[in-house]
Amino acid sequence: MDKVGLTFDDVLLVPCRSGIRSRREVSTRTFFTKKIELEVPVVSAAMDTVTEAEMAVAMAREGGIGVIHRFNTVEQQAEQVKAVKRAENIAIDEPYTIGPDATVAEAEELMRLKNVSGLIVVNQSKKLLGILTRRDILFRPREARVAECMTPAERVVTARPDITLEEAREIFMRYKVEKLPLVDSENRLKGLVTSADIVKKLMYPHASRDGKGRLMVAAAIGVKEDAVDRAEPLIAAGADALVIDVAHGHTEMMTQTLRKIRRSFGDDVEVVAGNVATAEGVEDLAAAGASAVKVGVGPGSVCTTRIVAGVGVPQLTAIMDCAEAAQAMDVPIVADGGIRSSADVVKALAAGASTVMIGRLLAGTDESPGAVVVRNGRKMKIYRGMASFYAMLAKNSRAGEEDILEDASDYSYMAEGVEAYVPYKGSASDVLRQLVAGLRSGLSYLGAHSIKEMQQNAAFIRMTEAGLKESHPHDVEPV
Ligand code: XMP
Repeated sequence: MDKVGLTFDDVLLVPCRSGIRSRREVSTRTFFTKKIELEVPVVSAAMDTVTEAEMAVAMAREGGIGVIHRFNTVEQQAEQVKAVKRAENIAIDEPYTIGPDATVAEAEELMRLKNVSGLIVVNQSKKLLGILTRRDILFRPREARVAECMTPAERVVTARPDITLEEAREIFMRYKVEKLPLVDSENRLKGLVTSADIVKKLMYPHASRDGKGRLMVAAAIGVKEDAVDRAEPLIAAGADALVIDVAHGHTEMMTQTLRKIRRSFGDDVEVVAGNVATAEGVEDLAAAGASAVKVGVGPGSVCTTRIVAGVGVPQLTAIMDCAEAAQAMDVPIVADGGIRSSADVVKALAAGASTVMIGRLLAGTDESPGAVVVRNGRKMKIYRGMASFYAMLAKNSRAGEEDILEDASDYSYMAEGVEAYVPYKGSASDVLRQLVAGLRSGLSYLGAHSIKEMQQNAAFIRMTEAGLKESHPHDVEPV
């Protein structure tokens, strides 16, 4: 047994000669899966205190991607995927509509439920009759009909369904409207463009978008019998990638699920599989059809797998071992868990990962699910491992799983994660921008214009406890 497992704090990267003049010169572009490219190599974890629609939107806007967790019903999860897909796009394919005979009260309720400021009025054959906005119904009696309050079709500016971004911008400027329904030659509603979406599109030039200009999003599934049943509505909702997300991913159940997904949905669907911590794990999952492999057994901040099961591989060694196999199999790897700073992002990528998956660092943000609580005068949010006692309990009661245990206390014996408070830290985009700034700095110290080049230039050096101490501020009193 001479193999030594190392993790991020055991090493540093040796600086290289660099011709880079500005950190703006470097690119952080990378592959999340074989086909999905991202501007920013960061993925938010599929955990119920990290990623739902709001986080996934923030991640995609900044150039990363979020994985909607699966600890809910499939309907709830598909709704989350749809919410991301609707968040901003050139055209909304199926805008919310209402009939002309509905009442103001009904229209108001629909706008509130769907969180929109306007509805398109159509007849039964989907022909455009008008637009109804909140302003139109402001002082109207609740029983008044939509037809009496709407802006009628003859006064509505419309465009054809294949309009480009530039043409839409022109129309918004010229007519000063906020909503542009798209109609075919027979005046049937085919979509909707909103000025707010165009503004957002220009605000986030590096956002991760699909071919239709919609934000990208991934969604997690498991390996049980129902994996394909869960996958289907998620793909229909527009998920750009599925993430088969289990603690021990190097199993026959995993390879069977991967093959089943491939048989059912073909090669078009991107499927990330994990977690593994060995080269053989990567080889087996890549051979079974994985579009990316997730690496990490036990490094996460709220994981107790290593102390419960005695199993795991320190994360830097796991990434290095897996990266070699991944390169040979031509499949990207996602380094999942244990990232505490931008330095860890740099080290994980330099060791061969294409992206990093993050839980804790994003858990205390505005976009993570859950409320801010005040503890000892400090603002905090709850973050919990998905194999923690309460997470497992909640999962079974919400998702109506079959394997409900007789006695809830059984969970305390099975738990491989903990619940914790993390400091509230504002917006997820600030956290991401800090990580990216650190990554750019790392790239420039390694004389690398890209992550690929950094991986080629990377030489790690092991350090001692004294080296680690020296790396942090020392012998001063922090202000
Ligand atoms: P960080 O360090 O970013 O890690 O908080 C997030 C990753 O932790 C994994 N995870 C768990 N691992 N028990 C575990 O052993 C758990 O209960 C648990 N919950 C999450 C997961 O891979 C996530 O992305």
